[in-house]
Amino acid sequence: MIDPLSILFRWTPENRAALAAFNARWEERFTRFRRTAGAPWWAPGLILTPELHQRYEAWLPQAEYRRDLTALAARLLPGRAWVPWRLRDPDGGGVLSLPDLWQRLPAPLAGHAGLETAVCNALLCALADPPRFGTDTGRYPEQLRRVTELLTTRPKPLWRVLDLGCGTGHGTWEVALAAAETGAKAHIVGVTREPLEAWMATHQRLPHDPARERRYPSPPGAAAGHVQFVAADGLTPPLRPGAWDLILVNGLAGGPHLNAPESMHRLLRGLAQLLAPGGAACCACRFHDGYAPHLDAFAALARTDGWQLSGPLRQLWLEPPTHATPH
Ligand SMILES: C[S@@+](CC[C@H](N)C(=O)[O-])C[C@H]1O[C@@H](n2cnc3c(N)ncnc32)[C@H](O)[C@@H]1O
Repeated sequence: MIDPLSILFRWTPENRAALAAFNARWEERFTRFRRTAGAPWWAPGLILTPELHQRYEAWLPQAEYRRDLTALAARLLPGRAWVPWRLRDPDGGGVLSLPDLWQRLPAPLAGHAGLETAVCNALLCALADPPRFGTDTGRYPEQLRRVTELLTTRPKPLWRVLDLGCGTGHGTWEVALAAAETGAKAHIVGVTREPLEAWMATHQRLPHDPARERRYPSPPGAAAGHVQFVAADGLTPPLRPGAWDLILVNGLAGGPHLNAPESMHRLLRGLAQLLAPGGAACCACRFHDGYAPHLDAFAALARTDGWQLSGPLRQLWLEPPTHATPH
C-alpha cells in the first residue's frame, strides 16, 4: 500500500536540492555557534535565561530560521496555507529564540540542522501538532460515556456530530468507534485550524509521534467512511447551519487558543447556528487551573445569552437558547 505521506510531501529532485541547501546553510551556522558563541547548545530542559535568548538570537535569529523552513515547507506541501501556523505567524506563536521553538517539539526533533527527508516530514507535522496540544485517545472518558449513552438511548436515522477544534482527531475517531459499537449511524466531522492536522486526522498518520499514532481508534470500515476532517476556523466553519445534533468543543473554549470575550461570544453564536433543533454542545477541557477564570467567563457569557448549562465547567453541556433556533 502506498504511504500517504509519500503523496503529501513532494520530494522532487528540486525539493531535495532545496533541503540540501537549507541543511548546508544551517549546519554551517549551528557549527559556528557551537564553536564560538560561548553558550550551551540546546538540550531538553535547558533553562532559557534572557541572556541565552539574546545569545541565540544574535547568532541564530529564529525569524530567519523560520523564514527558511517556511520556504521549504511551502515547496513540499500542497500550498502555503498548509505551512504550520507557528512558522507563518510573524511572532512565531510567542517564539523568542530558536530554543523556544525546539522546546515546543518532541525532543528527538529539536536542535538538528542536517534534516533528512523523513525528519523534515516529522518536524513539519510536529509544528502543526506540538505535544502541548495533547490530543489523544481517552482524554474525556466522562464525555464519551455520555455521548455513547445519547447514541444508544435516542435512536435517530442518522446522527450528525461535529468535533470543533479536533486537532489530530483522536477524539473524533473515538466517537466514530462508539457510534459503530452502539450500532448508531453517524456522520462525524472534525474541524481544526491546521490543514496538516486535518490531513493527519484523516489518514491517522503522525510521523512525529508513532506511539500516539498507534493509539488511533479504528472503527470498522463502513463507520470509518462516515468520518471527515476539514481545515477551517471553528468560529466560521463552512458547514450547513441547523444540521448538527451534537457538537463537541474540546480543549478550545476558555483555553490558550480561544479566551477573548469576543471570540467566546462568536463561538457561542456559531454553535447556536450550527445546532439542529434539540441538539446540544459539550465543551470539555483539561486546561490547568490558570484558565479557570476564562472557563467561568465562558459559562457566564453562555448563561447571559440564554443557554441552558449543566455539568462542571471542565465538561459543560450546553443547550441553545430557544430564540436561536437555526434557519
Ligand atoms: C488543545 S487542542 C485540543 C484538541 C482536541 N479537541 C482535544 O481536546 O484533544 C486545540 C486544537 O484546536 C485547534 N484550534 C485552535 N484554534 C482553532 C480555531 N479557531 N478553529 C479551529 N481549530 C482551532 C488547534 O489547532 C488544536 O488542534
